[in-house]
Amino acid sequence: MTPGKLITLEGGEGSGKSTQAEHLAAHLRTHGIEAVLTREPGGVALAETLREIILEKKPASPETEFLLFAAARCEHIAELIKPALEAGQWIICDRYIDSTRVYQGRLAGIDPTLIAAIERHTVVPFLPDLTLMLDVPPAIGLERARVRGELTRYDAAGLEAHETVRQGFLEIAASEPDRCVVIDGLEAAEEIAGQIAAVVDRRFGLGL
Ligand code: TMP
Repeated sequence: MTPGKLITLEGGEGSGKSTQAEHLAAHLRTHGIEAVLTREPGGVALAETLREIILEKKPASPETEFLLFAAARCEHIAELIKPALEAGQWIICDRYIDSTRVYQGRLAGIDPTLIAAIERHTVVPFLPDLTLMLDVPPAIGLERARVRGELTRYDAAGLEAHETVRQGFLEIAASEPDRCVVIDGLEAAEEIAGQIAAVVDRRFGLGL
């Protein structure tokens, strides 16, 4: 147990995670909490460099890609997540372990037992206290991402692949209901922000 809190946002492309991360940080500020906003892959210098390598150089081997995501996460935990949690800070992280379980485990064919083993050795005990899964039909999410010019290598994967991603997140949420809350990402951004604020307040007993 660490005194801080780790809240992760997960979802497919164009699900509005980054916008909601900002809204949540602003909401926590109203409670006097200055959360650290971060993202994966990335968040610290070496992990941001690995992000560029993964997203731009496009490793040919799914194993290489998986290990680079895992390496980026190790650095992120060592340099930012662990010290911040131990110092009692709140962290809002845009993508984390569930993205690996879904994109590498479901789409790229990495053995889930390998993913689980690496997670046990590198992430535990820094597991999320709360994961908000923003759920958006892939056709809509991809169109939003395209309009914003944010298409990544996975966006070329086709609708079926993105539906696999969506189902993957929903299945994780169903299997870990104490940690995960699914949020309908089709609502207006302010409406979603209000729902997330209510979930967070309830979960952590804020504003009582
Ligand atoms: P982003 O566009 O949400 O910042 O994420 C970058 C891409 O990286 C996105 O397509 C999802 C992918 N990704 C994985 O495949 N595995 C992971 O572990 C993480 C964190 C991201």
